[in-house]
Amino acid sequence: MKESLSLEDIRQIESGISRRFARAATRPEGIFRYPTGVAGLEGQGYAGELLEALPRDVLAFYCGVGNPFSLGPVKKGEFVLDIGCGAGVDTMIAALMAGPEGEAVGIDLTSAMVGRARENLKKTRLENVFFQEGSAEDLQFGDSRFDAVISNGAYNLVVDKARALREAYRVLKPNGRFMIADQVLRGQAPEDWAAMIGSWAG
Ligand SMILES: C[S@@+](CC[C@H](N)C(=O)[O-])C[C@H]1O[C@@H](n2cnc3c(N)ncnc32)[C@H](O)[C@@H]1O
Repeated sequence: MKESLSLEDIRQIESGISRRFARAATRPEGIFRYPTGVAGLEGQGYAGELLEALPRDVLAFYCGVGNPFSLGPVKKGEFVLDIGCGAGVDTMIAALMAGPEGEAVGIDLTSAMVGRARENLKKTRLENVFFQEGSAEDLQFGDSRFDAVISNGAYNLVVDKARALREAYRVLKPNGRFMIADQVLRGQAPEDWAAMIGSWAG
């Protein structure tokens, strides 16, 4: 896909993403066409005991599109990377599952989201969670570092998806698990190129 996008297209897409998710980092209600916050988490079947372990005002910032943990649990002691972590709800759920011997790291392109995730983390007692600004296309971690890579609603936004997938598999340990929930387009892509670029971030 990237070969056919100009630098100006990419700049426009990434600034659209930053603007939209900076707004969602303040208040997600009314921005998405699907339920967010506690309603979204309950609708996606997240385990009640995990949700009860996090404050409601943290859960309120969830804006995922599915449930990566429906593909399997994180095991005790595992190291997990959450790509496009947003306000960090899935990262914190992964850390609860991994327990104090494990660790969860969330990265996100939007600095306001990373700020929100760090504020959210302060409202919990978790000590095995870290958040960093960064892109799925250029992960700042060594090879074979994580037992599981999770993501929820981020890859559909990534410009160079092939590069981002190579990066995810680079940082996964051999036999590591790639557990993502995302949106896919069914049918034809819009013919109007400018409208497609303009609507990339929704
Ligand atoms: C729909 S939100 C989901 C956030 C979070 N996963 C959740 O479930 O609440 C998508 C997130 O992906 C982030 N994002 C978009 N493109 C990205 C990229 N190339 N690298 C990392 N994060 C990205 C956005 O900033 C946004 O926070």
